Amino acid sequence: MSIDFKDKVAIVTGAGGGLGKQYALELARRGAKVVVNDLGGSRDGTGHSDMALEVVEEIEKAGGTAVSNGASVTEYDQMEKMIADAKQQWGGVHILINNAGVLRDKSFAKMSPEDFEFVVKVHLLGSAYATKAAWETFREQSYGRVLMTASSTGLFGNFGQANYGAAKLGLAGLTKTLHLEGAKYNIKVNTLSPVAGTRMTEDLFPEQAFELFAPENVVPAALFLVSEDAPSNAIVGAGAGGYHSAWTVMNEPVWLPEGERTVEDFAKHWDKIGEFSNLKAPESGAEQSGQILAAMQKVTGQGPSSARG
Ligand code: NAI
Repeated sequence: MSIDFKDKVAIVTGAGGGLGKQYALELARRGAKVVVNDLGGSRDGTGHSDMALEVVEEIEKAGGTAVSNGASVTEYDQMEKMIADAKQQWGGVHILINNAGVLRDKSFAKMSPEDFEFVVKVHLLGSAYATKAAWETFREQSYGRVLMTASSTGLFGNFGQANYGAAKLGLAGLTKTLHLEGAKYNIKVNTLSPVAGTRMTEDLFPEQAFELFAPENVVPAALFLVSEDAPSNAIVGAGAGGYHSAWTVMNEPVWLPEGERTVEDFAKHWDKIGEFSNLKAPESGAEQSGQILAAMQKVTGQGPSSARG
């Protein structure tokens, strides 16, 4: 089975270096026309450079097709123009990898509100803006593949990255609703949680680990998740040749009858309510209330309408 991207137009944000560059190179190698977006700033999001242009040159030298785009994902009008330009040049946009990112790490105690806002703006709003700008095109085409870039910090936490973690888990949440809204239009939306040795992590990894976690190892997961036969609503982790999935799950609700719902009653049942067992990964938010009603029915033997009365 070979997977190609012929006749597909792909946009990769933040593709001037690191992971995004590897996605762009491989998409182009496999036939996609690629918009290499990058503002070209430093790791904390300041300054500008021509990183995207250099990636385009590399793609063209290898016989591929690409254009550079220096827009910032934080500006919605620039995202709209990026989509419009790609459509004008190549007739559509089929794939969007939201990859652009910055870091402003500090413990929450020392983090300024500005650093919190900026990091959330680049990751969460930037991904929402780029996706929103492309959404109508995806619907019109009945084809769209969107990849959000989360992080282990978002899924599981990391000291010093409250701003980044909040934005990253937000992206997994955004994926879930866009997956539901896009399903009818053949728009598939997934979340990737990569681990890679890039400038973002260069002072975190020891030298040997930095090499083991070369960004090339994340490419298979990223490209599969934006391919024709991609799943939707997956959260996939990738790094150093290891690949896995993650889910948001809930346990079976404990249903307390009326008259037994005081704070003290809740505290009495906390061991069971907080137990890591009987886990399910709901397909949509509605399943939370559905599971609560099912738990009620198990205790009372009554369905929602008769139980209400
Ligand atoms: P990187 O710093 O090499 O790549 C991020 C790129 O985004 C940079 O080239 C930067 O210029 C660009 N960028 C920043 N702000 C932008 C904006 N407003 N508009 C357009 N482009 C902008 O870092 P890396 O590691 O390749 O990160 C890629 C993505 O993967 C990021 O979203 C990061 O948070 C995520 N990630 C990376 C991990 C890792 O281990 N390297 C771990 C978890 C997530």
